[in-house]
Amino acid sequence: SMGLTFLGIESSCDDTAAAVVRDDRTILASIVAGQTALHADFGGVVPEIAARAHAEKLDLCVEEALTQAGLRLTDLDGIAVTAGPGLIGGVLSGVMLAKGLAAGSGLPIVGVNHLAGHALTPRLTDAVPYPYLMLLVSGGHCQFLSVAGPDQFTRLGGTIDDAPGEAFDKVAKLLGLPQPGGPSVENVARSGDARRFALPRPLLDRPGCDLSFSGLKTAVLRQRDELVTAQGGLHEQDRADLCAGFQVAVAEVLAEKTRRALALAPAPVLAVAGGVAANETLRTALQTVATNAGAAFLAPPLRLCTDNAAMIAWAGIEAFHSGQRDGMDLAARPRWPL
Ligand code: KG4
Ligand code: ZN
Repeated sequence: SMGLTFLGIESSCDDTAAAVVRDDRTILASIVAGQTALHADFGGVVPEIAARAHAEKLDLCVEEALTQAGLRLTDLDGIAVTAGPGLIGGVLSGVMLAKGLAAGSGLPIVGVNHLAGHALTPRLTDAVPYPYLMLLVSGGHCQFLSVAGPDQFTRLGGTIDDAPGEAFDKVAKLLGLPQPGGPSVENVARSGDARRFALPRPLLDRPGCDLSFSGLKTAVLRQRDELVTAQGGLHEQDRADLCAGFQVAVAEVLAEKTRRALALAPAPVLAVAGGVAANETLRTALQTVATNAGAAFLAPPLRLCTDNAAMIAWAGIEAFHSGQRDGMDLAARPRWPL
């Protein structure tokens, strides 16, 4: 620790967030303003609505984070901002605000890859040493990353279509359950029989660590339609059984691909990030995989698994320590593979 304190700014999807983090891993403030209600009527995040909400709320979030930390901008050592990947309107809002704050204060800017923010979270929460294996499972992302340094990521595989959170959300929608779908499906699945419906295990027969979730969602849709045709509607038990079957299928393929990823890139720690990491069935399956591979399983607290700015501030601190400085030419990038 060099006694550095960073502001973090995150606005790449549907959470507007600001945080103040020290390089001794103290989170002095972490403000997250969600937009779920704004997008509720549309069945997904509407980019234009998200961008406007970020533009309106971001400066207030920063102000609140600084107030909560009891610091002024001039007490800080740098500004870390998500520069991509994500919805470009939101990313631009964050990058522009960071540039404005930097121009006014003279602080350096560090542009952070949102995925690196997630991937480095275990170092913020648990000081996990390099290397480790990260499974990122959210509503927008799904990939295995072998993390060997603050800018050394090897992608071992990932989804070829939907992200698992997206699949949970779509399954919830087609069963008439409330959004976000993950928690709804998990709750309903508690009283379900996972073996009643034969659902596929996509890509399990193919070597490697790639995953696919859209066929699984379609299989649930087909079972639903068969039931509706046969009995005129869905019973509560049908919903429960479909949710349970779907959830187990997701957990099984993720567990098997994680087993392969750990075989490809052995590591003492398997860590997860992303909202889907909240799923208990998945966690249990991953814990078993880790134990069998002789690795520790680490799931950071959920508020740091889902989108937040503390992870961006932390990734900025790590990048700053390794020499990264950005200027007024920092670009906002809708696509930015690690
Ligand atoms: O990381 P996150 O908050 O946002 C982004 O995707 O950026 O993840 C949200 C996703 C949603 O798709 C949500 O349905 C899913 O995580 N999720 C869950 C659970 N809780 C949230 N999926 C499965 N089981 C859960 N308990
Ligand atoms: Zn994210």
